[in-house]
Amino acid sequence: MTVVDEVKARVDIADLVGESVQLRKAGRSFKALCPFHSEKTPSFVVDPSRQTWRCFGACSEGGDVFSWVMRHQGVEFREALGILADRAGVRLTPMDAQAEEREKRLQRLRSANEAAASFFRHGLLEEAEAEEARGYIERRGVSEAVSEAFGLGYAPRSSDALRGYLSARGFNADEIGGAGLSVDGDEGPRDRFRGRLVFPIRDPQGRCVGFGARALADGDVKYLNTPQTPLFDKSSLLYGLDRSRESVRGVDRVIVVEGYMDVIAAHQHEQTHVVASMGTALTEKQVALIKPLTRNILLALDADAAGAAATVRGIDTTREAVGTEPQPVVTAHGLVKMQNTLAADIRIIELPVGHDPDDLIRLDPERWATLVAEAPGYVDYRFRRSREEHDLESPRERSALLEELLPLVTTTSDPVVRADYLQRLAQLCRVDVASLRGRGTPATPVPAHLRASTVAGEPAPRPRPLTRIDRHAETLIRLLQHSPAAAADVDPGATAGVSDSQRRALLSALLGPDATAELGPELEALATELRGSPIDPPLAAQPRVAARQISAKMCHLRRQEDARAQVQIVEEQQREVGVLVLHDAAYALAGERSTRPDSDEESPAASVLESHARAIALHQHRDDGSADEADTTTAKGEAGA
Ligand code: UTP
Ligand code: MN
Repeated sequence: MTVVDEVKARVDIADLVGESVQLRKAGRSFKALCPFHSEKTPSFVVDPSRQTWRCFGACSEGGDVFSWVMRHQGVEFREALGILADRAGVRLTPMDAQAEEREKRLQRLRSANEAAASFFRHGLLEEAEAEEARGYIERRGVSEAVSEAFGLGYAPRSSDALRGYLSARGFNADEIGGAGLSVDGDEGPRDRFRGRLVFPIRDPQGRCVGFGARALADGDVKYLNTPQTPLFDKSSLLYGLDRSRESVRGVDRVIVVEGYMDVIAAHQHEQTHVVASMGTALTEKQVALIKPLTRNILLALDADAAGAAATVRGIDTTREAVGTEPQPVVTAHGLVKMQNTLAADIRIIELPVGHDPDDLIRLDPERWATLVAEAPGYVDYRFRRSREEHDLESPRERSALLEELLPLVTTTSDPVVRADYLQRLAQLCRVDVASLRGRGTPATPVPAHLRASTVAGEPAPRPRPLTRIDRHAETLIRLLQHSPAAAADVDPGATAGVSDSQRRALLSALLGPDATAELGPELEALATELRGSPIDPPLAAQPRVAARQISAKMCHLRRQEDARAQVQIVEEQQREVGVLVLHDAAYALAGERSTRPDSDEESPAASVLESHARAIALHQHRDDGSADEADTTTAKGEAGA
């Protein structure tokens, strides 16, 4: 039995869900108001016999104990597994001695940080020399409650106060240094943070992993941060996330700002869905932290060109002030791919020159609200900026603009939106749309942890959202898992149209001669995931009929798709050749062939004629199938549902 199975076997879904949702018995299952959307009649069902949960209402989401914890607590599979394994008393992997040592050390460093945080906090509240810091916090409009919530502190000017405090509590110099709390100087170690306002930085679990420390006097370096330590990696943390989690999930959006004070001002003004990237361009690791909570990301970017450019231009690496390791950041290109792969909506809050979120929220909340409400989508934002930055009268500048925007446009996955951007870009650069098609840089792969699906802790590549055929494939897979005998009734053409490779592979495996063949961990994980969601009772009642119908529908959808694609090709070709009728155009193009030196494709005339013939053939096929016609209506009805 795998750990996953063991955990599943030991944790009861009704107990688990019942801890946070008021369940009422309804026959063999439990019902409740869905915790994920607001509703008046309960559409949320927990089925103890299947050990599943599901919202049959607006979210129509569901799954097993793991997906419950993932959704409810906003964590990734790995973490959910950890949480549930803890609960079930299942040991995940026996730690080897070395790992155990490492974990012990991390614990010590965390405790040292935690102790330091309370030392600083106490310093702020009690020390006479913290008067200046207290006044500063007050002047910046931070209330006692918010100061307490964020654990703001004060590091005294003395160079050994903290070290003294920590060693009295049993921490040795190695641990104090290892947590980044001291620096080595000529005369031995000294406290790192001295005479500064201190912001404890916590990991998403709320554990103190480091500090940011602001100078109170001008002239000193404005912020000192904890250096890279085994605990602290600035680029994989978001300041304030531990306090924003619930709110981000609740309002289903997050605002990413730059500074500690921006987050604090936002929370002070009851905008608790705000976190900070701590002054660097957003990194992939940071985005991965947001991903389980929301797909709606608003980035507050400086109007100042350098700031915006740093975050947005195609820089692939950046050097942290504190470390020397190059850190991968989410590039302009990456942002667009993120939109695609996460189905994320990335918007840009463009800050007016000389303002940051902190002063806007405090001094001009209406303007801030407008900027947030009207934040343009990322590519739109880039279009606007490019227009402002380039002199469109200069051909050279137009060419530069094209180079800048084309990669963003071509990676946009939605074909309708992409077509619209292409059109706009062509107009802006005064070139022919047709000349832009097929250009653009090839997409670089998106890191695994940013990809849309995560199963059994293994990030599964799912470069595109699932198509309707893929969804049918899922249903069919679940049906076959439930009733393997129904495989005999599946139309053999059904797998071909499945575009998601994992689903196609899984379906083929279920249809293949050896249903017990090894699937490999990824497919196995997907199989488990699919098994976790319930089958509609009517399908389960007549699996063979259902298998026949679903596979027939998949074949039908595929034929439709083919036909649509062919028609589109012909239409595009017709558009490109203008008002001439197709055959004339084809012959005209054939004559032109020698005058198109850049064309290494086959003769356009031949391809036009071939597409035309294929389209006609497909149309005929469609007209023949009267059963298909009837099916079209059901398919449409479903799409609307
Ligand atoms: P800002 O200079 O905008 O700081 O840097 P701030 O938070 O708005 O501070 P105030 O309003 O001047 O008091 C934004 C963030 O960049 C990081 C910090 O995380 C800061 O909050 N930063 C900035 C550093 O780490 N080191 C620096 O020297 C400067
Ligand atoms: Mn500021």
